[in-house]
Amino acid sequence: MKCVQVTEVGSQVGFKMQVGDSLLKGMESAGARIVGIGCRGGGCGLCKIQILGGDFELGKMSSLHVSDSDRSLGYVLACRCFPKSDIAFKLIKKSIDFI
Ligand code: FES
Repeated sequence: MKCVQVTEVGSQVGFKMQVGDSLLKGMESAGARIVGIGCRGGGCGLCKIQILGGDFELGKMSSLHVSDSDRSLGYVLACRCFPKSDIAFKLIKKSIDFI
C-alpha cells in the first residue's frame, strides 16, 4: 500500500496517508481536524484548501465553491482531492485545531 506525505505549509504540520484516499479522509485518519467537514461529496465547500505542490486527481466539485479560476490557482475541495504524490497545501480559513 503506497503512502504519501502531506504537509500544511502554514503550520508545518504533516501526516502520512494512503494513496487512493481523499485528502479529507487522510486528515481524519491522521487526527488532523484542520478543515470544516460537511457533505464529504464536493458540494458544500467547507473543506476548501489550496494545493501548492504535488500530484493529485480530482473528483467532481461544485463550481459554486471552486470556479475555473480557483482551480487554476490550486484551490480544491479536500474531500474530492486524491493525492498521488507528496502534497503541500495551505489552509484558507484559520480555524485550525490539530489534535
Ligand atoms: S465536505 Fe463538503 S465539499 Fe468537502
